[in-house]
Amino acid sequence: TGVVTLDPGYVNTGSTTSGITFLNGEEGVLRYRGYPIEQLAENCEFIEVAYLLIYGELPTDEQLEVYREKLSTHTMLHEDLRLFYDGFPRDAHPMAILSSVVGAMSTFYQDSLDPHDDWHVEVSMVRLLAKLPTIAAWAYKKSSGQPFVYPKNHLNYCENFLRMMFSVPTEDYEVDPDFVSALNLLLIVHADHEQNCSTSTVRMVGSSNANIFASISAGISALWGPLHGGANEACVNMLERIRDDGCNVKKYVDMAKDKEDGFRLMGFGHRVYKNFDPRATIIKAACHRILEKQKLEDPIFDIARQLEEAALKDEYFIERHLYPNVDFYSGVIYRAIGIPEKMFTVLFAIGRLPGWIAHWREMHADPHKRICRPRQIYTGPTVREFVPIDQRS
Ligand code: CMC
Repeated sequence: TGVVTLDPGYVNTGSTTSGITFLNGEEGVLRYRGYPIEQLAENCEFIEVAYLLIYGELPTDEQLEVYREKLSTHTMLHEDLRLFYDGFPRDAHPMAILSSVVGAMSTFYQDSLDPHDDWHVEVSMVRLLAKLPTIAAWAYKKSSGQPFVYPKNHLNYCENFLRMMFSVPTEDYEVDPDFVSALNLLLIVHADHEQNCSTSTVRMVGSSNANIFASISAGISALWGPLHGGANEACVNMLERIRDDGCNVKKYVDMAKDKEDGFRLMGFGHRVYKNFDPRATIIKAACHRILEKQKLEDPIFDIARQLEEAALKDEYFIERHLYPNVDFYSGVIYRAIGIPEKMFTVLFAIGRLPGWIAHWREMHADPHKRICRPRQIYTGPTVREFVPIDQRS
């Protein structure tokens, strides 16, 4: 009933109120719970930011210690959950494994499926945050055929993940503090971004009172797409293609302008940011730092910088306010750490998890919550008389 306003892609439709993340696309401002992203990225540990997003305040020393302890007691996966990995083909995309295993958590924690049971929801949030790095690292181990590495709980969140990714039984991986801080920074800048596609998906699924594991699994699926989180993998593939094709960035800028072609510059453009993406600025500076400190040269970084420069000078990109986004430079850091391309979007998912959880929780605390149920404008046939099968042509 009533007038339906059409807004494809929800460009101007506010779906909710929220007190979690503030974003000003014109001025390139991003704040979590009021704190500028630049300050959080410089000073925090990822789980501190997770706490901030979920509970609304930065933790005190004592609160952080308790939180750390809680998270570290839930890092292991149930051994039966491990068996799921045997069923996936070796070349399965790790994002598919991630969403399947997170969805399967709802079969292992059947006492935690009621979104109004606060105690169980609290444990489920901790389980998700604690286990996602293990689930992710095992997805990688599956693809490389190496034995799974179990978590070590005296390590911090990022150290633990890197160790589970890169240790082998014959050699324990020595965690490089530069890699840990680069990864920590990347997870923080990805941690929330208000009503993006995957977060809206988490809210949409959760609005039917579906359990938290099902809701987060749906968010992971939404993130996988190349127009969203999948852009980091697609961006590095594109940069490699440019490298192999003679480093002619201008050719690719021209291709991106050609609508017939369907090719877009991956890691470029954003629905909300129209001047610059503050996350891209932070990540670009971090790229410089890590490559310099590690004395690494990555031609991909040079190509990215040349491509950015060429695009930002081009009328097409200027007119449309298209700038590098969070996915443009992040792959360069992942490569420096040794993370394979197929895992890039998985890293985005680990980073975004606190945001998804915070939104799911905020939605359920809202006394005005209603099931999400958009309307449509019907464009199909008007009423038709039924035709029996023997009379159809
Ligand atoms: N390369 C070339 N042209 C582009 C690009 C691009 N990367 N992005 C947008 N455009 C053009 C688009 O063709 C359109 O032109 P016109 O007005 O002539 O039809 C105009 O710019 C507006 O684009 P849109 O697709 O209507 O904008 P949107 O807000 O619906 O989409 C976007 C935003 C991020 C999906 C889009 O910019 C894009 O596809 N970018 C490449 C993929 C990417 O990097 N995604 C990551 C986004 S940031 C992190 C995240 O959300 O995960």
